[in-house]
Amino acid sequence: MCGIVGYVGTRGSVDVLLGGLKRLEYRGYDSAGVAVIDADGHLGTRKHAGKLGILTDDLAAAPLADGHTGIGHTRWATHGGPTDENAHPHLGDDGKLALIHNGIIENFAELKGELLASGHTFHSETDTEVAALLVGDAFRATGDLTAAMLQVVNRLEGAFTLLAVHADQPGVVVGARRNSPLVIGLGEGENFLGSDVAAFVEYTHRAMEIGQDQLVTIRPDSVEVVDFGGAPVAPPTFEVDWDASAAEKGGWSSFMAKEISEEPEAVAKTILGRVTDGLVDLPEVTALGPEVLRSIDRVLIIACGTAAYAGMVGKYAIEQWARIPVDVELAHEFRYREPVLSPNTLVVSISQSGETMDTLMAVKYARERGARTLSICNTQGATIPRESDAVVYTHAGPEVAVASTKAFVAQITATYLLGLQLGQVRGALTDDEARGLVAELQAVPEKLATVLGVGDRIKELAHWMADTRSVLFLGRHVGYPVALEGALKLKELAYIHAEGFAAGELKHGPIALIEPGQVVFVLVPSPRDPRSLHSKVVSNIQEIRARGARVIAIAEEGDVAVLPHADEVIRIPLASPFFEPLLAVVPLHYFGMELASAKGLDVDQPRNLAKSVTVE
Ligand code: AGP
Repeated sequence: MCGIVGYVGTRGSVDVLLGGLKRLEYRGYDSAGVAVIDADGHLGTRKHAGKLGILTDDLAAAPLADGHTGIGHTRWATHGGPTDENAHPHLGDDGKLALIHNGIIENFAELKGELLASGHTFHSETDTEVAALLVGDAFRATGDLTAAMLQVVNRLEGAFTLLAVHADQPGVVVGARRNSPLVIGLGEGENFLGSDVAAFVEYTHRAMEIGQDQLVTIRPDSVEVVDFGGAPVAPPTFEVDWDASAAEKGGWSSFMAKEISEEPEAVAKTILGRVTDGLVDLPEVTALGPEVLRSIDRVLIIACGTAAYAGMVGKYAIEQWARIPVDVELAHEFRYREPVLSPNTLVVSISQSGETMDTLMAVKYARERGARTLSICNTQGATIPRESDAVVYTHAGPEVAVASTKAFVAQITATYLLGLQLGQVRGALTDDEARGLVAELQAVPEKLATVLGVGDRIKELAHWMADTRSVLFLGRHVGYPVALEGALKLKELAYIHAEGFAAGELKHGPIALIEPGQVVFVLVPSPRDPRSLHSKVVSNIQEIRARGARVIAIAEEGDVAVLPHADEVIRIPLASPFFEPLLAVVPLHYFGMELASAKGLDVDQPRNLAKSVTVE
């Protein structure tokens, strides 16, 4: 939600701002705007409801006087609908100050009352305008944008990233953040601010984190960060490990198609550099100390959506390999039940964006109550890793499509690396057992590349099923979370009812849903699995076929027992039970994408959704 860009330097700021907003489009928005201080020290703004192209076309037809200082914003409406008036920037100090905002100012009503009482008028329904007027007033009193912003942020409650510029201070952009994303791009004679590094990665790979309750002032040749008390801080810097082309569609029909094709590489890059002498070597985890790792008596995985399903797969593996009880909880439920936590509880958050507010709030809650926190995250410098004791980054590269695909397989991979590392440190796995599992994990990328070949067949199925109104997904053990993931993809991409079930649950109710023609995807475990789950799932298939279901089975090469019972069999390479989810999910990712395409829907930016849900 909401994209934010700030720039000071020697380039024309309008192009830098529009280019940055373009790269942040995937975050989801419904209006866009920019503010620029031109060469004569005048502040010009332009903003429109709708897609970025409307703003870009308007600026092409009627350019703003350009300059080298500016801020840009894409808004996902919270307070007030997506209208021109509610679009950001908002103005203060008689139009000499422009401000943009991501998040929610929870005490805006009280502050708005004060401003109205002091004679201010409002032009929008937003909470943001309150901040713009307050900073404008504070600038008039202090004559300095940093001091003005510092004064105001200490009066705000809620979650916010704010950027502001003032016509009387060209060459300066001031930003502040609390529980909302902001990162600094460090250039030569220029500096950037962005919601994430995609905003400026085409200009610089050098970046700096901004911590909680910190304020940054960027000038072309300086970056100064202070806390909300005004004390200087020196946040860590980092190198962005991907380049701008990685965030381009590169000739693919959609970012989602591109990102599905990158699933093998996402797994390979997440493993890379984390195996030594055939054993997992995760210094991010071992740095917690062997005593701490041995004292863990419970793992609690918290996440939302697809990330939660990755955690559910990881639960099976961590319990099996490290012999520690693992629970998975939806982050937005977690802190409202007052969970029992202790220093021996390891709370593992999983988040592609590292900005999901529900997950961030759950991590802060757990940490405040003494639990150890570890983040699995795909975005360097994001907020959740900064609020955690340790972080294991996935290296899937930027995931632009709202529907998560390559991040999902990378997240599962990271939970496997964690489970193996804990199993090794705690002696729950012998070195030989661990080496065998590591070798199987290292073989996954090549097998995943094979599975990409099912895309054409899935496309045919999807076009044949374009009018389908309901699809069910069945799975057992590690296949159950994959069934949930397949259903979520269909809901968020094709806007149809879809539901994932544990196959064993069928006879406890859901089988009543089966009527002639009901499409059901079934994730079939390997027949080589000694736990006889295969025969149980084949029995489930027979039960639903007997009631007219159309069954699409996802089964391993060579599984002939499933053939008489399925209308369609999608093959995946042989793999041990724990590694099947990484392969079996690919046909389901393709299916969600192809059904959406068959229905003429926007695959990359589905309706009502944002890539990163940065409000609760
Ligand atoms: C998945 O396709 C969705 N986009 C959504 O469920 C997503 O996984 C969830 O919002 C969590 O996002 P995060 O991984 O960035 O925290």
